Amino acid sequence: MSLLDASGLSVTYAGAPAPALAGIGFSLEEGERLAVIGESGSGKTTLARAVAGLLPPAARADGTILWRAKDTPALPGKDIGYVFQDPSASLDPVVAVGRQIAEVVRTHDGCGWPESMARAAELLDRVRLPDPAAMVHAWPHQLSGGQKQRVAIAAAIAARPALLIADEATSALDTIVQAEIVTLIRSIVDEERMALIFVTHDIALAAHLAERIIVLKNGRLIETGPAAQIVGAPADPYTRMLVEASADVASLVEGGSAREEASR
Ligand SMILES: Nc1ncnc2c1ncn2[C@@H]1O[C@H](COP(=O)(O)OP(=O)(O)O)[C@@H](O)[C@H]1O
Ligand SMILES: [Mg+2]
Repeated sequence: MSLLDASGLSVTYAGAPAPALAGIGFSLEEGERLAVIGESGSGKTTLARAVAGLLPPAARADGTILWRAKDTPALPGKDIGYVFQDPSASLDPVVAVGRQIAEVVRTHDGCGWPESMARAAELLDRVRLPDPAAMVHAWPHQLSGGQKQRVAIAAAIAARPALLIADEATSALDTIVQAEIVTLIRSIVDEERMALIFVTHDIALAAHLAERIIVLKNGRLIETGPAAQIVGAPADPYTRMLVEASADVASLVEGGSAREEASR
């Protein structure tokens, strides 16, 4: 049984001349790592949000998304954790970071505050932030962009979701930090056996992290297949162009664990 099955997925935003997503179908197995790639505006975020049930009210969606072969949608936050591109936008600036994570634990696991706060500290340690006991009291503005993204990841995995979606979660960060965060995401989904949908415009990064790649262009699925095949022998000229345009972050991810440890 697949974790997720999407078919005929189309999304049109109110007033838009063309659909942002047109007839996309794919499935995702438990623990599978999938990357969604394409240029800016190709529909990646729309696809990720549709899957997570996080489309804005102005979006009209058609098609079916089955979660564990059932029509009942996955619960955002509980079944699916979502990491956004801009960590500043996903964190509340006036709430200490531990409390923001504890809130997710409390909401979905139903435990009390002391237990939720203890779990928040564990999660801060899990995302390799230094001194978690002190870090729970930190304000978002006291943290670097990379540290904020680590907090956002901690909040996204707080309810132990079966699927983690990272939407350009590293694109706004410096190259080295980007590689560290990718390494962290990889270690988390491996250890927690979470499925991953990694949204990126960087195909080399996609190939490094994912077993399978979906290529989007203008809301359409251009090609899909094993990551090595898509990057090594792209069938479509558009995919070939993405391969040529890809940055060099992926090469930094190798040995990233050591770097991650060194940055603690
Ligand atoms: N909230 C929205 N309202 C109207 N149009 C949108 C909205 N979000 C995205 N779009 C449009 O949908 C298309 C796909 O956007 P998006 O899914 O954000 O692509 P990507 O993440 O690949 O950059 C684009 O043409 C974009 O302008
Ligand atoms: Mg996007």
